[in-house]
Amino acid sequence: MTTDRGIPDALVSALRDARHVCVLTGAGVSAESGVPTFREAQDGLWSRYDPQDLATPEAFLADPALVWRWYRWRRELVADAQPNPGHHAIARSGELVPRLSLVTQNVDNLHQRAGSKDVVEFHGNLFDDRCYADGSRHVGDDSLDVPTCPDCGGHLRPGVVWFGEAIPEEALNESCAAAVDCDVFLSVGTSSVVYPAAGLANLAKDNGALVVEINPSPTMSASYFDIAIAEKSGVILPELVESLSL
Ligand code: OAD
Repeated sequence: MTTDRGIPDALVSALRDARHVCVLTGAGVSAESGVPTFREAQDGLWSRYDPQDLATPEAFLADPALVWRWYRWRRELVADAQPNPGHHAIARSGELVPRLSLVTQNVDNLHQRAGSKDVVEFHGNLFDDRCYADGSRHVGDDSLDVPTCPDCGGHLRPGVVWFGEAIPEEALNESCAAAVDCDVFLSVGTSSVVYPAAGLANLAKDNGALVVEINPSPTMSASYFDIAIAEKSGVILPELVESLSL
């Protein structure tokens, strides 16, 4: 059975009964804001650029100025974008359930700009500058091709997680704890192929949560989820929040 908005009744009632809801988001949540995803065939970033040239420590060491140009382009792109109804619905849902944990793989700040608090940034933040040597945070000089660390004089780097790098320990611990504890786990706008983020749904399910995917193109993992809703997040999430508010 579904509501007249096409949302399974089982999901609405699980959310109404939930003590703790964990939401994991990916690039698809920002797609309706005009931010490109990574793996979609036509306009995904990884269909146009090779991550090995731009998103690894080796790429940065080989050509830091090229890597900085790419990340500055992405900063401008997302700075001009606005949070969409999906981001706003997630922020609003924090007021409708006793506890909400929001874990995002996105580095674009759009959840924060929509009003979500305590966002767990699993892959870092595009707007952070960090010392390449020790990871300390600084404000870089954007007039330089490669900004330098005021403490050690070495390179600053974008504060995102690159391929081959570990997830920030605090973000990993908080996310795993939320996945283990939650009653409902929503996986929204992610292809669920990048680990360890993709493993959070398994952790939630193994610990008894109802696991739900929201993605207009159901992923390879869709059959693993208890419920898969093939719809855009900017459409379904506001409707879900509306159903919860009734
Ligand atoms: P992907 O590009 O792999 O997947 C985006 C997903 O969003 C796809 O499955 C789309 O079908 C879906 N999608 C598109 N439009 C949507 C919409 N309006 N509503 C809901 N879903 C929509 O992006 P991620 O799964 O986020 O990592 O990628 C994970 C990580 O891989 C990223 O954080 C990034 C990338 O390499 C790093 O840079 C470390």
